[in-house]
Amino acid sequence: MKVNQKENVRALVSLLKEVHSIAVSTGAGISAESGIPTFRGKDGLWKQFRAEELATPNAFMRDPKLVWEWYDWRRGIIGGKSPNPGHFVLAEWEKLYPEFTLITQNIDGLHAKAGSRNILELHGNIWKVRCTQKETVMENFDAPLKEIPPLCPKCGALLRPHVVWFGESLPTEVIHEAFRRAETCEVLFVIGSSTVVQPAASLPFHALEEGAKVVEINLEPTPLTSSANFSFLGKAGEILPMIDKALKE
Ligand code: APR
Repeated sequence: MKVNQKENVRALVSLLKEVHSIAVSTGAGISAESGIPTFRGKDGLWKQFRAEELATPNAFMRDPKLVWEWYDWRRGIIGGKSPNPGHFVLAEWEKLYPEFTLITQNIDGLHAKAGSRNILELHGNIWKVRCTQKETVMENFDAPLKEIPPLCPKCGALLRPHVVWFGESLPTEVIHEAFRRAETCEVLFVIGSSTVVQPAASLPFHALEEGAKVVEINLEPTPLTSSANFSFLGKAGEILPMIDKALKE
């Protein structure tokens, strides 16, 4: 349904007023207005910093110090950033709906900072580290890191970022739950994602197959746009508050 924006919002809000179960899948675009560059799209920047070369198990094995220097730099950039109105609307909707799941590909931690609680982090979290020996996961907010590479406080082994690297599989239980939620919700929002990286890119298509309505909010068209029931082209930090305002009228 691609009518004008106002009509789009009205139709969506009447749907949102009658459903009980919502899932949301976010990508880097929802954090763009917080000042964190995206990977792709016209303002995508991270790719210039060789994510594909550094965010890999081989790169870490070869030079853990270099990989940690890159993550320390990214943590420094992200550490100073705050959630934007888009993050806050989603944190509020979680309290509004009996069933609300937030699935994110982002590792910046801004959804939690905005107050979201029920979060499925598909690609991990840049503020968590994992012991390479015992697999223990710990939070670490030091920016800059006290030592590079950081060592496990319990056993002294090398720590790695608790994020999913290229070539690694996603945490099974998290991805299964994300697909379960996408396949059982009544409405799935896909916000700020280029919808090209699997398996997250398949979530909305599974939701459509199960009869859910899919709402896309993105700065530019994606492979999902033509299949979405609602498509809002623009900034998530402006469109989500607009929908939220109409929902409360
Ligand atoms: N509001 C809404 N959408 C935006 C905004 C904004 N303010 N700014 C940018 N976008 C859109 C871009 O147009 C782009 O389509 O957000 C999308 C971001 O796409 P990507 O940069 O590809 O981010 P994402 O889809 O999350 O990437 C998936 O790829 O590199 C891996 O692990 C990394 O999690 C990441 C995954």
